[in-house]
Amino acid sequence: MTVVDKLRNEHDISRYELEMLLTTNEASCIEALKSSAREEANKVYGNKVFIRGLIELSSHCKNDCLYCGLRRSNSTAVRYRLSDDDIYYCCETGYKLGFRTFVMQGGEDGWFDDKRMCRIVSTVRNRFPDCAITLSLGERSRESYQALFDAGANRYLLRHETASPEHYAQLHPAEMSWQNRIDCLYALKEIGYQVGCGFMVGSPYQTFDTLYADLQFIRNFQPHMVGIGPFISAHDTPFANMPNGSVQTTLRLLAIIRLLHPHVLLPATTALGTLHPQGRELGIQFGANVVMPNLSPRDHRKDYAIYDNKICTGEESAECMACTEMRMKRIGYETVVSRGDFNPNYEA
Ligand code: 5AD
Ligand code: FES
Repeated sequence: MTVVDKLRNEHDISRYELEMLLTTNEASCIEALKSSAREEANKVYGNKVFIRGLIELSSHCKNDCLYCGLRRSNSTAVRYRLSDDDIYYCCETGYKLGFRTFVMQGGEDGWFDDKRMCRIVSTVRNRFPDCAITLSLGERSRESYQALFDAGANRYLLRHETASPEHYAQLHPAEMSWQNRIDCLYALKEIGYQVGCGFMVGSPYQTFDTLYADLQFIRNFQPHMVGIGPFISAHDTPFANMPNGSVQTTLRLLAIIRLLHPHVLLPATTALGTLHPQGRELGIQFGANVVMPNLSPRDHRKDYAIYDNKICTGEESAECMACTEMRMKRIGYETVVSRGDFNPNYEA
């Protein structure tokens, strides 16, 4: 049995098999990985791709992650916040374009405290009762996560960034704790959110061991969603001169994650699209089944600059949606108007 067949049948991989799959130059092996992952995705989701409308609420952040362009020490970052009405307008536009999931993402910004955020979530919940609300607002208290869930949020994205505490400490300032991040993920799951974790591919100091730990973490935590994309250097950060992550490695990891966890909701990310003109299409072809076009107001888009040269910063929401649909169609996939919830029993 080949390594790919074993991965597919047993939903498991060893440290050495992982290294082999990420380093092999054998075209037949890479092709088997890709086609197996796509077959698994097809079994569950067919040729359907779920769309999520991304609304970037705030470029303010109290954290100082070494990799991120929005870190608080970056004095050249342009800071903005959307108003409640800006946010509702984005949702309205998105709803008309066919979005049934809104992802409200932002830096860790105290302005969006529980009072404000619960008001926003419950308003969106009431105005768009058939839509899923996904939050991606970083680490908050369990009480805060509970209040936002009670206000109507359904899903939460919080990348674990790395499953190795030592590696975490190389990517973050001392005041940030790996344990707290993991505790947040478990709290979110206990509360009842559909939860997404994830990591950057090719982040500084990443090794096969840390990647293997990431896959084991995913296997144990059983998230509903996994977000991965290549690390991309951001100017005016401590990692400004670090090399970008590899598109090839990201694609192979997408396929591996699909085979480990066939039902997972797996986006082909903007970062992948930034490093390769067909990055998102390739991501789908390697087993991803979600894309997240940008619904943020155009005048602020370029300022949500977590890394350099981010795509989709000049387009209106409708253009970004049309572009996404066209890109998916060109490779034989269809974007669907539906919430696209995680469903462990789902079969196309
Ligand atoms: N390159 C790629 N991804 C990044 N993120 C933050 N900074 C970068 C970067 N320079 C990712 C992190 C974070 C998510 C919102 O974006 O994984 O969790
Ligand atoms: Fe945003 Fe193409 S997907 S412009």
